[in-house]
Amino acid sequence: MIDYYSASAEFYEMVATRHTASSGPPLARVLAGVDVSHGPVLEIGAGTGRITEAIASALPEAEIVAAEPSATMRAMLTSRVARDPDLRRRVTVTDGAAQDLDLPERLSAVVIFGVAGHLTAAERVSLWRRLADRLPTGGVIVVELMGVSAPRVIPPVMSLRETIGRQTYEWWIGGEPAQGDAMRFTTVWKVLRDGRTVREVSDEYDWHTFDVARLAREAGMTSRRVTEAGGQAIPEIGVLVK
Ligand SMILES: C[S@@+](CC[C@H](N)C(=O)[O-])C[C@H]1O[C@@H](n2cnc3c(N)ncnc32)[C@H](O)[C@@H]1O
Repeated sequence: MIDYYSASAEFYEMVATRHTASSGPPLARVLAGVDVSHGPVLEIGAGTGRITEAIASALPEAEIVAAEPSATMRAMLTSRVARDPDLRRRVTVTDGAAQDLDLPERLSAVVIFGVAGHLTAAERVSLWRRLADRLPTGGVIVVELMGVSAPRVIPPVMSLRETIGRQTYEWWIGGEPAQGDAMRFTTVWKVLRDGRTVREVSDEYDWHTFDVARLAREAGMTSRRVTEAGGQAIPEIGVLVK
């Protein structure tokens, strides 16, 4: 697995805060009523732990396993979990990428947000099969897609602008078709002070595009699509039901 995230990990909290504000409420709705007695809830690619917090608050009785392969991202995840007594009691942080994750024997539900396109289609098929073996009938895998169902050109746009202290941070993102079903995204973080760029951190990663129908075929499960919450558009979420 390539660690795409360490290079710009110092900025990730700004993205995650906005992302969780839009994706957290629909995730909470999907998870409401999940029976957590079958085993832990697994989060794959937990990043800095913002979505982990959302899972914990939606399911106050759940044990959670939060897996994150990037050591830099995992440092923030562990820090977030360690400073909150409730998370500290219920969340176990582990290393490992989706492709070779050491899985608990039983799972109540799975959450995989902003991660699945880092896997090839074959890797996803194998992952869905391993997860399904551990879920109860009716158990869910909640998958966040990136809203790009096929490769296309996305001209660079400023996706985020925030001020912290005396500095302003801009996040620019664009993409173009790469090989096969993949998009290559290029991101640039610009740090500005007094209107001047004082630092730039660039990054590239590949994302295998897919849609919810494809996800259902890969997993051999029924699926539904969530695209809005309370009238607000959100990043597309697919819910696979065993
Ligand atoms: C866009 S971030 C999403 C983080 C978090 N899920 C969230 O929604 O805030 C993607 C995360 O997936 C992790 N990741 C990348 N490739 C992965 C893989 N093959 N298996 C598991 N996690 C992976 C990255 O290290 C990063 O922390």
